[in-house]
Amino acid sequence: MPHLRHLTALLLCLGTFTPSNAVESLAETFRPHFPIGAAVLPPEGMTAGERHLLATQFATVTPENCMKPELLQPTEGHWRFGPADALVAQAAAAGQTVNGHTLVWHQQCPPWFFVQDGKPAGRDLVRQRLRTHIATVAGHFAGRLASWDVVNEAIDDGPADLRPSPWLKAIGPEFLPEAFLAARAADPQAALYYNDYNIEQPAKRDKTLRLIRSLKAAKAPLDGIGIQGHWPLDRVPYDHIEAAILAFHAEGLRVAITELDIDVVPHAQGGADLAQRDTATADPFATGLPADVQQRLADQYARLFALFVKHRDKIARVTFWGLHDGRTWLNTWPRKRTNHPLLWDRDLQPKPALAAVLGVAR
Ligand code: XIL
Repeated sequence: MPHLRHLTALLLCLGTFTPSNAVESLAETFRPHFPIGAAVLPPEGMTAGERHLLATQFATVTPENCMKPELLQPTEGHWRFGPADALVAQAAAAGQTVNGHTLVWHQQCPPWFFVQDGKPAGRDLVRQRLRTHIATVAGHFAGRLASWDVVNEAIDDGPADLRPSPWLKAIGPEFLPEAFLAARAADPQAALYYNDYNIEQPAKRDKTLRLIRSLKAAKAPLDGIGIQGHWPLDRVPYDHIEAAILAFHAEGLRVAITELDIDVVPHAQGGADLAQRDTATADPFATGLPADVQQRLADQYARLFALFVKHRDKIARVTFWGLHDGRTWLNTWPRKRTNHPLLWDRDLQPKPALAAVLGVAR
């Protein structure tokens, strides 16, 4: 029966090569609850397989780096919108929304913002540069973005309320309301977020609440809070996360989980401060993730998504910080090692954690 054998082979082939039909989509399954997203490189940096995974599994996209100030305006007045424009166009073609990240941050922000003639620039000049950057960037993308992380990581990890960043030092705390007002003026449609790590922890949560109230007092247009969500395996702070979602929502704000990953390689840092490095050298999962760790990752993701679904009336979006384990900043921060924090592995194959998360929505 050669014909039948050929037909069977053909059908098997089609089955293999039409994954959008054959494989359940993460974004589709969660559509009744909230959009699910991924942080990605611009299209030129992605393989065809990655573009396919992104298009079929995710509803919303965040540029991992290409909308940060050092990429968009590396020197004053020299704008490089090409990669970010390509990312936005690709998302539009795939029917995905885009979340801008980020207008004001102390990292990946070129030093020229704060310098004039080799000396610290004066307050008015830094304010004007802040306003020009936001007006130009938010204006350029206006109408094409669902949201902006207007200010990233302004809260201090130590005793102070605000981090002693170059922005704070040059302008004072007014840089925050100023940034939100400039973003709204340039793009009236995008939802405007304050975004940070560890703000589910009580100390930083309370500082965030004070910041929210001070922004409101200054009539700054704040629409939501982004909880980054860089959490360590076996220490996911579920109770703090739930309390923070409730507290931010009680302020009348949307809550987004903006940078979700679960780090499976223990390290001393915690949080997500780019300036913190780790001097250890251990790379315990260089050849793969043992089954028991894989299972803990799956269980902890499932518990987290059960929490998000429980509060789906307050959650605007859940975005993973990376597409698969080969594309995660946790392979290099806070030191180089082989990490496995996401739902797809380096070969773009689904991990047990994906099935566990899908199981929560069904
Ligand atoms: C990271 C990117 O993933 C890396 O590629 C880059 O080298 C450094 O920044 N919190 C944030 C993100 O808000 O912008 C950071 O992204 C990760 C921590």
